[in-house]
Amino acid sequence: MSMEDESVAPAFCAAHGLSTWDERHPQAAFTELSGQACPVRPDGTLVVANRQEVVDFLRHPAVRATDGVHYNLGGKRPLIPLDLDGDAHRKYRRLLDPLFTPKRVARLEPLIRARTNALIDAFAHAGSADLMPDLCGPLPTHLFIDLLGLPTADLPRFLEFKEAVVRPKGATEEEQQAYMRAAGDRMYEYLEAVLAERRAEPPRDDVLGGFLTTEHEGRRLTDQEIIDVCYLLVIAGLDTVTSSLSCLLAWFAEHPVERRRVVAHPGLLRKAVEELMRFESPVPLAHRWVVEDIEVGGRRFPAGAKVEVVWAAANADPAAFPEPLTVDFDRPRNAHIGFAAGPHRCLGSNLARLELRVAIEEFHRRIPDYEITPGDEVVYTNYGVRGAIRLPITFPVR
Ligand code: HEM
Repeated sequence: MSMEDESVAPAFCAAHGLSTWDERHPQAAFTELSGQACPVRPDGTLVVANRQEVVDFLRHPAVRATDGVHYNLGGKRPLIPLDLDGDAHRKYRRLLDPLFTPKRVARLEPLIRARTNALIDAFAHAGSADLMPDLCGPLPTHLFIDLLGLPTADLPRFLEFKEAVVRPKGATEEEQQAYMRAAGDRMYEYLEAVLAERRAEPPRDDVLGGFLTTEHEGRRLTDQEIIDVCYLLVIAGLDTVTSSLSCLLAWFAEHPVERRRVVAHPGLLRKAVEELMRFESPVPLAHRWVVEDIEVGGRRFPAGAKVEVVWAAANADPAAFPEPLTVDFDRPRNAHIGFAAGPHRCLGSNLARLELRVAIEEFHRRIPDYEITPGDEVVYTNYGVRGAIRLPITFPVR
């Protein structure tokens, strides 16, 4: 969301005509948005917010992921596959999907456990921690580095890059774009150097090795294509998991009854993660462009329209999720779209789900009893991605 921290409430409320916005608990506002008929922002951006309309709209072939001029997230070329549509997009998904199937990512489970435990080791004896710098921030980046087979010493480079792109500095949109572009250029340069090194050695059994050897219709990916995929993965796979993990652990810290239930029955975690991803929707929205006049569910979208698709509202839509503001791990049907819907649904959702489940399982095994530090509080941001900025917890040392 393009909202500055201090002005989140008025800006978001005003833009969507909402009666309320609570930075800690935005879900009620999203339910309200899902019930609005044909919402439009004051700048003319059409908003799609109820679940059925979101799904139908995204399936339409005249809906595009970019305006064809600007690319997402500081990229100087279209990011693969996020900034592509139609056949070009399908071609890359056919190539990339097999590298992120549940079976393929399951191989990473021992690594996720080991990385999580190594981070917990550093604070388990202290009885308190801020889970943002101590766990949620570094864990996905460590795993990403392992996934690509890069040196751990490069961790700060990735953290700096994703922060610059997700929360760019600058007073105007132009300044923010320039800030993102500068960070993006540094990342392109780094990835080019890494790839040159990897081409010079025998292929390894990691994701980068997969990119170097995978073939589609008798053709391998070029260096530029691999760099454009990696660039996107750095952003798509880091802050999203960090933010989601922070939302889920903060929720468990404040709901001891449900936490004790999953600590006692870790098998419940799969459903708990799904329900909390629905409820928290850490990636709240995306934009799309319409290239010809279309009608979806009785609503007209003119050619050239920019459309805001609000996953978080669709996930809080009472027509799809009865009592959407209640977290219910036993919800009989939970077809949430926290990982998006339509052609651009998340490529890394299997990996993300595994990271979240395994990290929380290990955390609960080591630290089953924890609370938000008395007198302190979780500080959330809903700017760009929803997540905690501070997550101070206290726990008995075992
Ligand atoms: C809990 C963590 C995650 C959440 C909530 C999430 C959510 C999303 C959402 C909402 C989209 C659609 C974006 C749009 O339409 O503009 C998306 C796309 C994408 N995600 Fe994720 N994501 C997560 C983790 C990951 C991970 C770990 C990876 C990779 C390793 C990843 C890779 C991607 C890619 C490549 C796309 C673009 C897919 C396409 O354009 O076809 N994501 N994700």
